[in-house]
Amino acid sequence: MLLYILPAYIANAIPVLIGKLTNYAMPIDCGRFLYGERIFGQGKTWPGFISGLLAGTITGILLGIPLLGFLLSIGALLGDLIASFAKRRAHFPRGAQLPIIDQLDFLFGALIFSAPLYPFTNVEIIILILITPPIHLGANIIAYFLKLKKEWW
Ligand code: CTP
Ligand code: MG
Repeated sequence: MLLYILPAYIANAIPVLIGKLTNYAMPIDCGRFLYGERIFGQGKTWPGFISGLLAGTITGILLGIPLLGFLLSIGALLGDLIASFAKRRAHFPRGAQLPIIDQLDFLFGALIFSAPLYPFTNVEIIILILITPPIHLGANIIAYFLKLKKEWW
C-alpha cells in the first residue's frame, strides 16, 4: 500500500523543489484574479505541476505501475490545486496554513483519480489518512530547514 501511494507523495513533493528553483515563475492562473483574489495563487506553477506529474509517473513506471502512477500523480496535483482554489476563495493568502486540508488535499485527489484502476480498501484509506499528515509535516520541516519552503507547515 505504501509503495502504491508513493507516486502521489513524489508528485506532491517535487513541485516544492522546482517551484523554488524556477522562482515561482509561470503561475497556472497566469496572475489572473477572481473576485479580488488570485485564482490559484503564485504557489501553483506550471513547472511545479509538470515536474510533479513527470516525477510521480516515473516513480510509477519504476514500481511497475505506470498507469496507476500517472493517475495518482495527476490526482495529487489537481487535489492540491483545488485546495488552493478554495483557499483563495476563502481569502486565505498564499502559503496561509489550513490544517488537515493542506496535508490531505493531494491524498484525496490521488485516491479519487486512482479509484477506477486501483480501489484502495477502506482500511488502507484510513491508514493513509492517519499517516499522511505526520509524513507531510516531517517533509515540510525538512524543506523549511533546507530553505526550500518559507513556512514550516
Ligand atoms: N508548487 C508549484 N506548483 C504546483 C504546486 C506547488 O510550484 N502546482 C510549489 C510552490 O513553490 C509552492 C510549493 O510547491 O510554494 C508548496 O506548495 P503548497 O504548500 O501547496 O503551496 P503554498 O505556496 O503554500 O500555497 P497555498 O496557500 O495555495 O497552499
Ligand atoms: Mg501550502
